[in-house]
Amino acid sequence: MSDMALPSFAAPTDGQLTAEMLAAFHDAGVLILRDFVPVEECRALTSRALELVDDFNPEEVHCVFSTTRQTQADDSYFIESGDKIRFFLEEDAFDESGNLRQSKEDSLNKMGHAMHDLDPVFDQFSRSPALKTVADGLGFAQPAIIQSMYIFKPARIGGEVVCHQDSTYLYTEPESCIGFWFALEDATVENGCMYFIPGGHKMNLKQRNYRISECELTTEVLDPEPWPEHLKLPVEASAGTLVIFDGRAPHMSGPNLSDKSRHAYTLHVIDQTCHWPAENWLQRSPDLPLRGFA
Ligand code: FE2
Repeated sequence: MSDMALPSFAAPTDGQLTAEMLAAFHDAGVLILRDFVPVEECRALTSRALELVDDFNPEEVHCVFSTTRQTQADDSYFIESGDKIRFFLEEDAFDESGNLRQSKEDSLNKMGHAMHDLDPVFDQFSRSPALKTVADGLGFAQPAIIQSMYIFKPARIGGEVVCHQDSTYLYTEPESCIGFWFALEDATVENGCMYFIPGGHKMNLKQRNYRISECELTTEVLDPEPWPEHLKLPVEASAGTLVIFDGRAPHMSGPNLSDKSRHAYTLHVIDQTCHWPAENWLQRSPDLPLRGFA
């Protein structure tokens, strides 16, 4: 794992992955495709996200978060968000008097988890013909977009994300999750870009997160061996870059202490031919069936 770089290619305009790209993805667990999305489309998605933020009242979530802190782990606001559009604040969003330190959009950690099915602008971005071709090239039998997240990583208060694997949260039997991460703004070491451990997807799934009740999640440790974090490499990515990564690929990101936000959009895709356990946190209403890229 130690001397491996993270593979990076100019994006194929039609989404057709070459044999070299696929081999690199299977080796590293990560594939960087530069200029996959035109910058104007990145800006259009950001504008739409900010319109949705306009309609959100942070006081409502503040209550939920305060309650969570006082009464142990009530995760219902999160658990119920799989088929909705909900807003999650940064831990440092409020000052001691309970007022937002920064603007609303600069106080948010993320928005999720079903914009791709509920909002027409997100739907169109998430189901571009090129992205469908990429998913087909990755070998999905029956791809389904299980979740979307808009990551704000705001200036000054953007929180650190510790090393993890996404299959911990989006677990199928057998495992099938692949992440698609789009840089909507330039991501640098300074503003909290992602880091990956190249080849780390060949390690075990180290944790599984699941529901133990309607309003409570737990994380079970399957393999206590610590991550070889000294092997991590940063993914500095200009706006429009797509990073594809295996559900087992260990990744993390630092805090954003800079004065530049680091907006990104992520989609997670699973194969519907695999089993989706009922104890997974994300469960959708039968009124909103899973869809692929069609
Ligand atoms: Fe992740």
